[in-house]
Amino acid sequence: MFTQNHLIALSDYTKDEILQILSLGMRLKAKQKAGIKHKILEGKTLGMIFTKSSTRTRVSFEVGAYQLGMHALFLSSADIQLGRGETIEDTAKVLSRMVDGIMIRTFAHSDVVALAEHGAIPVINGLTDFNHPCQALADIITLWEKRGSLDGAKLAYVGDGNNVCHSLLNICGKLGIDISVATPKGYEPDASVVTAAKAFSSAKIEITDDPLIAADGADAVYTDVFASMGQESEAKKRLEVFKGYSVTEAVMKKAKPSAIFLHCLPAHRGEEVEASVIDGPQSAVFDEAENRLHAQKAIMAMLMSDLSYEELMK
Ligand code: CP
Ligand code: NVA
Repeated sequence: MFTQNHLIALSDYTKDEILQILSLGMRLKAKQKAGIKHKILEGKTLGMIFTKSSTRTRVSFEVGAYQLGMHALFLSSADIQLGRGETIEDTAKVLSRMVDGIMIRTFAHSDVVALAEHGAIPVINGLTDFNHPCQALADIITLWEKRGSLDGAKLAYVGDGNNVCHSLLNICGKLGIDISVATPKGYEPDASVVTAAKAFSSAKIEITDDPLIAADGADAVYTDVFASMGQESEAKKRLEVFKGYSVTEAVMKKAKPSAIFLHCLPAHRGEEVEASVIDGPQSAVFDEAENRLHAQKAIMAMLMSDLSYEELMK
């Protein structure tokens, strides 16, 4: 049994708990590749609420649930009563009577908190405007696999100080991974997230407006879209504001020669990243996308099984 009831933000987790999720994700990946069945959650059901689009999150949770022996229900807010004004509280109470866990992707982070508060089952944050914890876990698994270790690692993030950036700050702070974030002025990550990341560990947490400073000596260079879901009306303006914040070959040259390029996807080639970078030899974006599946399985196993970490790792 894992000590956490929910995954709402990685800032709620200890370093050891995060390392356990990463290790279990890699263990379940190895089992899946070896064809070793691991139906740890046989007979259980996961409800997946989506009020925003998704490819990776939906597919990784649905396929991951199946591989763990579960059934997953895709609950689009366009179809369920939540989209017609039923409250989060009532939705939480009803789903708690029928399913064993909820994954939710939505706008307001407070809705995920409320779902967890009013429900009686584990709630997993599949992205809010504030955080994307499942993504950051898959990202760090990818860095670990590619680099062989996380010791002394540095991650550079170039672009918008958004949900993905916040979860990367959370996880790097907790694990002691140096992180340098380059954003245009006014688009920095939330100050409270930066302060917390600095407080978590001795890792160097740097916020700059210069992508070349951020990328200097990095083991991974990361970017995300300039306009996130819900910011479509700002897209044109943001293209102007973020000029100079693309991950180009010149930015990659500032990183270590062994550095990988990461992007949560979906990507816009020619905007936040040059096509030659995302489609080039340093890009690890499809391994990263695959690792969403393995990370998601670890999260579901940790939160929804009665087995101990040691038992899950067998
Ligand atoms: N990276 C990610 O969360 O992708 P989707 O929006 O496709 O789920
Ligand atoms: N920041 C992006 C991430 C998508 C996976 C968004 O919120 O749209």
